[in-house]
Formats: sequence, C-alpha cells, structure tokens
Amino acid sequence: MRRYVFAGNWKMHKTVSEAVALARALREGLDKEATPHEVVVMPPFTALPAVGEALKGSPIAMGAQNMYWEREGAFTAEISPVMLRDVGCTYVILGHSERRHIFDETDEGVGKKSRAAFDHGLTPMVCVGETLTERESSRTLEVVERQVERALRPLQSEEVASMVVSYEPVWAIGTGRVATPNQAEEVQAFLRRRIARSHGDDAAEAVRILYGGSVNPGNISGIMVQADVDGVLVGGASLKADSFLQIVNYR
Ligand code: 13P
Repeated sequence: MRRYVFAGNWKMHKTVSEAVALARALREGLDKEATPHEVVVMPPFTALPAVGEALKGSPIAMGAQNMYWEREGAFTAEISPVMLRDVGCTYVILGHSERRHIFDETDEGVGKKSRAAFDHGLTPMVCVGETLTERESSRTLEVVERQVERALRPLQSEEVASMVVSYEPVWAIGTGRVATPNQAEEVQAFLRRRIARSHGDDAAEAVRILYGGSVNPGNISGIMVQADVDGVLVGGASLKADSFLQIVNYR
C-alpha cells in the first residue's frame, strides 16, 4: 500500500508550551485511532527541541519549515541541517511560497537546500506553485516545471524517489479558496511526468506529491481521491488537534 503523507505546517504560530500541548494532543489522538500513513508536524524553530521530546517514541515525525544549506559558519540567524537533525527533525520544507514571495528565495537556493538536506540525512519536502496572475495568464505548468526542475537538478534518482514534492497554488494558501480536485490533479500529474523525464519512471512513481492550500476536514476526501495526490500539506487546519486528526483520518 502506498504511504501517504499528512503534514502540518504550523508556520509562525505557537509558543513552546502551546506547541507541546498540540503535539501531545496529536499523539493521544493517534494512539486512539492509528493511521497507516505518515504524519509529520512542522513547528517553528523555537519549539523543535521540546516538540521533538514530546513526540519521542511516537509514530509522528517532525520537520522544520526551512533551513540554510551550509552545515555551520558565519551566517547570522540561519539554521543548518545538522542542527535540525540534532533536535530530531527528519523532514524539512523547502521553497515554501511564503519563503519565495515574502523572503525572495530563489529556485537555485531551493536546489542547494535540497542537496544539503540529503547530505545531512533530512528528507526535503519541496514546495512549488503558481500565483494567481501566473494561473490567469496560463503559465501554471511553465512555472511549476521551472521550480521543480531547479529544485531537483542536484539530486540523484534514488533521492528523488524518497522525497516529497508539494503542489501549493499560491492563490489557495490561507485564502479558503481550495483548488478544485481537477485543478490539483492536472498539475500533480504534470509534475510526475516531468520528474519521470528528469529522474526516470521509478523515481516519478515513488516520489510522494502532496497538495497544499486551504485543506480542511470538509474538503480532504475530494482531494485524496485524485490519482496523483499522495497526501496533503496543511497550514491553518493543522493548528488544532481535532481538525488535523480529522484530516489524517479522513475516510
Ligand atoms: P493553508 O492550509 O492555511 O491554506 O496553508 C497551506 C500551506 O501553505 C501549507 O504549507
């Protein structure tokens, strides 16, 4: 059976104590109703050590929301992949649209980070997605193709096979405006074909491609029935245990 990924990106939310409370509630919820799929939480940096402790021995994995590509050095305010591993992260989100659009991250930077993630034992979750203007000018596929090509260029096929790509249309993030299942599927299938061209059929078949953008307990089933959707990256609805658990146990 294919292992889907249900990931919660907590963005810039939660103090340490709030984050630990949410992690504990998720852990308890999954004790009651186990899932065969992979559940990942992405707390803010400050809460990673405490959430890592709270989740020890549980089936819930932890990831960070960003990182720098060097292992250490004079890079004020940056966090390295080695530091993320040290506090228990196994995943890292790279190239989230908020990083690209608010903090000017580039496609090349995302590629360097993907390489560094694998070099230090982290699984990258690379985000791609078009803005509303890009969609309205029919440039969606061109944009996601460029993003995925540059993010995956430094990677071997076996690495791509084990990683996660998340399609997050920028106009659907935090807006309550979810892509229709058909809109999501069109892009997800395109991404898989594109990855087959660059890294081979096996990698394209194995890579998990998530959808992100206003996912909630009410729309999850419609999203998950699509053939090329292997899970979801959830923002707002991952901040409360009950709504995130409803998404994880959507059936
Ligand atoms: P929302 O679920 O709040 O729209 O956020 C999606 C997202 O950006 C996940 O990374």
